[in-house]
Amino acid sequence: MTLGADEVDLLRRSFQAATRDMPDLVDLFYRRLFQIAPETRLLYRGDMALQGEKLKSTLGMMIAQIQDLAMLHPMLADLARRHVGYGVVPRHCALVGEALLWAVRRTLGDGFDDRIEGVWRAAYQGIAEAMIAAAHDGQASRVA
Ligand code: HEM
Repeated sequence: MTLGADEVDLLRRSFQAATRDMPDLVDLFYRRLFQIAPETRLLYRGDMALQGEKLKSTLGMMIAQIQDLAMLHPMLADLARRHVGYGVVPRHCALVGEALLWAVRRTLGDGFDDRIEGVWRAAYQGIAEAMIAAAHDGQASRVA
């Protein structure tokens, strides 16, 4: 994934804007995910408020490091392997990506545009691919 400096800046600013107010990106994301893919609800067994906080901080970390995700390799590999244990399979990846994009669009409202859509699609794809690749290093398994 190659995002230019302006695109990385746009991604970071839109992430900050989308997580500033409540309900934020993460709340809307889960609501949307469980609407479009109700079967994924059963995979989440813990406290959803805590889960939302973890997702937000992890996304923040990845977005901060988006130009060189390889730096996060060990963390991405562990995270992806834990997802195998949660019952996540590759086809969930696209659903999560769509729900996330929907939530970004909904949170930013009039501030959302095609450029923001493009940088988020590229970033999500880069993160998902990096997680899958990292999880496959050293151990072959189904991951998402
Ligand atoms: C960009 C990709 C993703 C990121 C950054 C991400 C991030 C996280 C984080 C930080 C956690 C907290 C627990 C941990 O660290 O192990 C988590 C848990 C979880 N994620 Fe993801 N995730 C991603 C993709 C997915 C996908 C595609 C699914 C499929 C539905 C999914 C389902 C889950 C489930 C079921 C849990 C466990 C919650 C529980 O224990 O109750 N995630 N994820």
